[in-house]
This record gives sequence, C-alpha cells and structure tokens, in this order.
Amino acid sequence: MSISVRDEGAVRVVRIDRPEKKNALTLVMYEALAKALADASANAECRAVVLVGHPGVFTAGNDIGDFLQNPPSGEDSPVFRFLLALVDFDKPIIAAVDGAAVGVGTTMLLHCDVVIASTRAKFSMPFVNLGLVPEGASSLLVPQIAGRATASYWLMTGEAFDSDSALRTGMISHVFDAEELEARAMKIAETIAAKPPEAMKITKDLLRAPVRAAVKETLSREGALFIARLTAPETIAAFTSFMTRR
Ligand code: COA
Repeated sequence: MSISVRDEGAVRVVRIDRPEKKNALTLVMYEALAKALADASANAECRAVVLVGHPGVFTAGNDIGDFLQNPPSGEDSPVFRFLLALVDFDKPIIAAVDGAAVGVGTTMLLHCDVVIASTRAKFSMPFVNLGLVPEGASSLLVPQIAGRATASYWLMTGEAFDSDSALRTGMISHVFDAEELEARAMKIAETIAAKPPEAMKITKDLLRAPVRAAVKETLSREGALFIARLTAPETIAAFTSFMTRR
C-alpha cells in the first residue's frame, strides 16, 4: 500500500513508503494516509502522529503517471479527502522532512503542527512549471507564513528552497542533521504526547480556528482550478515530458 503505520507508545508513526519512486503519492496512498489519520483520531491511546518519508526523500509529490491516468475529478477524490482529513485532524502532527518535498509534499506541511527538516531537505511548489496552480491552500497559507513576496517568488518560479530558507521564513521550526531527524521528531512527539490530551486538543483547535474556514474555502477554490488545469495542453505536455524523459 506504500504507507506504513506503527505505534511507539502513544505516538503513531505514519511513513510514506515508496522509495523506489521517490515516495510519489498515488490514489491508494492518499486513501491510506486519510485512513491512518482517521484511525489515529479514533484511537484514544494515540496522542500524537509523526509523519515521515524515507532517508533522502520525503515525497516527490503526486505521482505524475496517476495525474495522467487517474486525475482527481472533484472533492471526493482521494487527494482532497486526504487534505481535508489533515485540516480536520484533531491531534498534534509532527512532520519530519529529509530530502525532497515536492508539490503536495510541501503543501501538506502547512497543515502539520510542528515541522522539522534535515539540512538536506529541499522544498518546492513547482505547480506552474507543470501548467498547474497552487493547491493545499498554499495560495493562502504560504503568504501568511512566509510573506507575499517570498510566496510569490516560490510559487511563480517553482524554485526549490532549502532548510535554511524554510527556517528563516517560518515554514519549519527546527533543522537537524539527517541522521538524527527521526529521533528528534519522536522526542518532540513524545513530549507533546505526554501533555494533558484535552488541553492539547483545545490548543490545536485555537491555533487553527482563526483560519480554518478560509483554508477550506481556499482548498475548494484551488481544487476546482487545479482539476481544470490537469487537462490543459501545456499541462499534459509537461507530464508527458516527465514520463518520457529517459
Ligand atoms: N511521479 C511519478 N514518478 C516519479 C515522481 C512523480 N512525481 N517522482 C519521481 N518519480 C519516479 C521517477 O520516474 C523514477 O522512476 P524510474 O526509476 O522508474 O524511472 C524514480 O521515481 C526515481 O526518480 P528520479 O527522478 O530518477 O530521482 P532523482 O533523485 O533524480 O530526482 C526528484 C528526484 C523528486 C527531484 C524528481 O524525481 C522529480 O522532479 N520528480 C517529479 C516531481 C514533481 O514534479 N512532482 C509533482 C509536483 S505537482
């Protein structure tokens, strides 16, 4: 299924687990991620979730072959259901990014509570390069977090940025060496998991409530435009070029 889930005490570790394809996300993987969040929410023993990829790659974003063969068609699509599940998730989620976090790999982080990265992390939102438009409420949240000038630069050039830039702009909270990244994520999760869970839940809700309605409205607006762009000739050309580049 390419998503693996394991529990370490009160911490549930959800791993994107398709290293041979740089953890590119398929429909089945989005479904598994949404299910992992639903299960974690329903399980009283689980007090925090750690979201990780593989050493050297967080995720290369949406599987481009899937974009061509099984494009999302509406808000019932697995990718939207996953993003909504993330927005509505009611327990702390700590993301640890090592290597590439492309497209939704970066935008999903906007909905995580604590984001840490390794010194070799590379974030990018290259939607425009592919004929696409921002998704994951990035057109709202990236300007809010990093400022409009930086958000426009990233979203209009598609250029990747490193952990130092991510830290400086507030996209992440800490940078660690790759070798210690997951252990650090576990330590943060354990610290959070040991706090009173009701107060934690309210704290998360207070931090997210001021923008929740706007986030959902932006997800929908971006989603409709994104879906329309998936069949645009310039988009099909970019996808085909990636799939046939060798
Ligand atoms: N969709 C489908 N397959 C992907 C993929 C994606 N998003 N990203 C990587 N892969 C596949 C490659 O096709 C390759 O498969 P192959 O070995 O069968 O040919 C394998 O994963 C390894 O990728 P490769 O490009 O050789 O690794 P790299 O280390 O040189 O580069 C990336 C890594 C992430 C920089 C590069 O793969 C990339 O740019 N991927 C596309 C990212 C993207 O545009 N995502 C969509 C954003 S909306």
